[in-house]
Amino acid sequence: MKSKFVQKFNHDPIANGYDTNIQNENNPIRNGYSNLMKWIKSKTKQSNILVDLGCGTGNTSKQITSYKKIYCVDISQNMLNIAKNKLKNNNNIVFVQNDLLDFFDNFKNNKKVDTIISTYAIHHLTQDEKHILFEKIFNFLPKNGKIIFGDLMFKNKKHENKMKNKYPDLVEDFDNEFYWHIDNELKKLELLGFKIKVKRFSDLSWGIYGIKQ
Ligand SMILES: C[S@@+](CC[C@H](N)C(=O)[O-])C[C@H]1O[C@@H](n2cnc3c(N)ncnc32)[C@H](O)[C@@H]1O
Repeated sequence: MKSKFVQKFNHDPIANGYDTNIQNENNPIRNGYSNLMKWIKSKTKQSNILVDLGCGTGNTSKQITSYKKIYCVDISQNMLNIAKNKLKNNNNIVFVQNDLLDFFDNFKNNKKVDTIISTYAIHHLTQDEKHILFEKIFNFLPKNGKIIFGDLMFKNKKHENKMKNKYPDLVEDFDNEFYWHIDNELKKLELLGFKIKVKRFSDLSWGIYGIKQ
């Protein structure tokens, strides 16, 4: 199954400038990135085998210090090439070029993956697609399996409107992507059977930490 806008959000054309671009935390879309990465590091300490969805240039997987294996998944070959080079000294990282929605259909969890991480990628899926992805992840993970997501999110519709008033220059960007609505996405994750905690890093960057019950 392919996501609807996978070609639009394939980062091939902007791969070369990506790591410079994300350092500009004066941009509200980038603000919180580095603290969120530190949070990922603290939350993955007990993990063994992970999948990094929308790994991009590998910044998230780079935070993970103790692991047996990481599967880094992205649709963009150019982003994956940068990640491969950045992580060349890290043992046991496998790179997979695939759509986030396709990945779980082709990958059986006899590998014993216990943690799924993803930063700033799931907002490229529509709300319906996010919920399909959450179902796939829930069915894939064992009991006590973890999800650790960081992404661009609004608390709810009211918060979205507040952000649009606060950052009028960004309204087009907001409307062009599918930022999470935490109230909706949380409901879905909890209905599936994840126990969830939410953490805020900036106006737009939030973290979701969940354990499958
Ligand atoms: C904003 S970057 C985030 C990269 C990295 N996780 C980080 O935090 O720096 C989003 C990444 O998701 C990838 N992507 C977007 N839509 C995708 C999809 N449907 N399937 C797989 N990868 C996708 C892009 O190619 C890009 O590398």
